[in-house]
Amino acid sequence: MKVFKKVLALALATVMSAAILTGCGQDSDSRTIIRIGHNQSTNHPTHIALVAFEEWIESKLGDKYDVEVFPSELLGSQNEMVQLTQTGAINFCVASNSLLETFSTNYTLFNLPYLFASAEAYHASMDDEAITGPIFESTKDAGFEAVTWLDAGTRNFYTVSTPIETPADLKGLKIRVQQSPTNVQMMSLLGGSATPMGFGDVYTALQSKIIDGAENNELALTDNGHGDVCKYYSYDMHQMIPDILIGNIVFLDGLSEEERAIFEEGFQLVNKVQREEWTDAVAAAKDRAANEQGVQFLYPDTKPFQEACAPMHEDMLEQYPNLAPIYDAIQVHNEQYPSAES
Ligand code: GCU
Repeated sequence: MKVFKKVLALALATVMSAAILTGCGQDSDSRTIIRIGHNQSTNHPTHIALVAFEEWIESKLGDKYDVEVFPSELLGSQNEMVQLTQTGAINFCVASNSLLETFSTNYTLFNLPYLFASAEAYHASMDDEAITGPIFESTKDAGFEAVTWLDAGTRNFYTVSTPIETPADLKGLKIRVQQSPTNVQMMSLLGGSATPMGFGDVYTALQSKIIDGAENNELALTDNGHGDVCKYYSYDMHQMIPDILIGNIVFLDGLSEEERAIFEEGFQLVNKVQREEWTDAVAAAKDRAANEQGVQFLYPDTKPFQEACAPMHEDMLEQYPNLAPIYDAIQVHNEQYPSAES
């Protein structure tokens, strides 16, 4: 399946590069094709939201645009899709905020462990344009712009056979993390051994025992089958990392004012539908993981995890002082929506 996907991705990338070179991103009735890639299954809230976007754009501008949504890494890994979006080989893709920090260090902020005091503070911060605006625009020079954010819940550790109750339990374990410097630093502060790799490679790595565990929201257990192998999921709540819908800057700047307004409404729709679907999707995943996959959910004291990661906040502010006002603005939402434990 993986080899098939890679061959398909390569074939698609070749066809798309050829299309770009010959200037023909058009379908048979000469509508412009808009390609959107993501790495989730077709059941996932993100896919459902992008299909709503497809329907919206085609209902308003269907004589001109044909929107095509490619799920399940069909266009490549997230890293590859970001690069395809940069060059304009595809128009949009969904990328985890984690990966974007390698394109603009401003994104580092949302990757900090325990940045948000609660899910409410996270949502309020991400809905606050004074917070997201400067960050979302900071990759324009790199060829893309963030057009909206998507919920990706809370990231927690899960392992094949070691219940994680305290950071000490992570010692000696190889844990898959997303490919970003912040995630590697977090893992080393927590005492585990960080193994960065793309999302699509995690299942096989777990199954073949190359890694002992990973960290993600609950949907990874069911949608991606990780709960077939990992039997302990531990709510240490280390990160709330948003997914970001990014668009090629040349494509976005080439839209007329009227078109851009319709696309903006579409981006808001993606955000709305995805978040409406999210809560139920997490509840269903938890139920299925517990009852069909035999996953045990653990609720450790999060304080020791939080304390181990605390130096990262100061480090980041020292390294990127331009992010301090945005960090402070997040604290206002944290005060308004404190953690249930405080
Ligand atoms: C979540 C997130 C994805 C990301 C994945 C990962 O599923 O929504 O965007 O790719 O985690 O851990 O890589």
